[in-house]
Amino acid sequence: MSQKRLISGITSTGKLTLGNYLGAMQQFVELQDDYEMMVFIANLHAIVLPIEAKTLKENIKSMVALYFACGLDPNKATVFLQSDILEVTNLAWILSCHTTIGELERMTQFKDKSTKVRSDNGTNFIPTGLLMYPTLMAADILLYDAQAVPVGKDQKQHIELARNIAERMNNKFGELFVVPEPIIKETGAKIMDLQDPSKKMSKSATNPKSYIGLLDDLNQVRNKIKAAITDSENLVRFDMENKPGVSNLMTIYSCITKTTIAEIEVMFANKNYGEFKNAVGDVVVNLLEGIQKKYNQLLNSQEVEMWLQQGAKKAQIIAQKKLKKVLWSTGLNYKK
Ligand code: AMP
Ligand code: TRP
Repeated sequence: MSQKRLISGITSTGKLTLGNYLGAMQQFVELQDDYEMMVFIANLHAIVLPIEAKTLKENIKSMVALYFACGLDPNKATVFLQSDILEVTNLAWILSCHTTIGELERMTQFKDKSTKVRSDNGTNFIPTGLLMYPTLMAADILLYDAQAVPVGKDQKQHIELARNIAERMNNKFGELFVVPEPIIKETGAKIMDLQDPSKKMSKSATNPKSYIGLLDDLNQVRNKIKAAITDSENLVRFDMENKPGVSNLMTIYSCITKTTIAEIEVMFANKNYGEFKNAVGDVVVNLLEGIQKKYNQLLNSQEVEMWLQQGAKKAQIIAQKKLKKVLWSTGLNYKK
């Protein structure tokens, strides 16, 4: 039997965070041994809100180097740049013709981001791309016949929409698409903001103390963990509702060391928050030290570019075949 195919992408808007690593990247690395893993840099998704061309370009190389530095293996995973595969925008258009405006307006991410644009800029300038984002994401998945999609919790709703679009089109045109399943970790699917643990950790946060960037200075990383908001109980106990700050740090510790939350509670039963934060700092710094070392070796190497081209070639073969089938089935092409 052939291996199950998995696909996922990360938007190239800025620096990757520990949230991206624990929610998504760590899964990609673990899954690449047992599945056919495809991972891309979602640069077409990065332009839904204004971004400088120079930044966008720089982010590509930096992100690919970081993917490999985090442990993706070019001999196992297919890593590519989303916009290298032109078929994806073609399919996204077709899918958008089978998706309603209501469905897109109901997406939490659209509601959050469009509200933020209005309040930050005081304008009503909401790019159509922000609304259409999930149809492009559905195309990313359906174009490659991916059976499953490893993501953080915030992307679950988008994958449900991709499933609905696939089912709808299968009903209309015959078995056209594989209906994809999300793969969401039990622990670490939503790493929270260090300063406001009611929000998810995000690379677009304005306060740098809110998130840990994978390429952050290691002393700063320790300081950010020391400054993380906790509570006054001074007891290392997991309770996301009443103690979200310390629970978030426990989740981070658990994902990196593969210790369970129950084990962490026992290990730190007689320790105060200062001691616990030092321990969290140690494991995070140790992880990032390894990643950064590899990243610096890879950043300007020829290998990275070669891997990216190799990945695009493989992805293209799958994409061309699929799009041809879609064009035929939907009546857009008269030649088989
Ligand atoms: P993005 O940076 O929004 O493109 O996200 C890329 C991947 O990282 C997606 O699978 C997200 O669900 C995941 N992700 C982003 N932020 C977090 C977070 N704070 N905790 C867990 N996963 C996250
Ligand atoms: N929207 C995803 C995010 O911000 C990134 C992404 C784009 C993606 N296309 C995808 C993830 C396809 C999984 C599958 O996190």
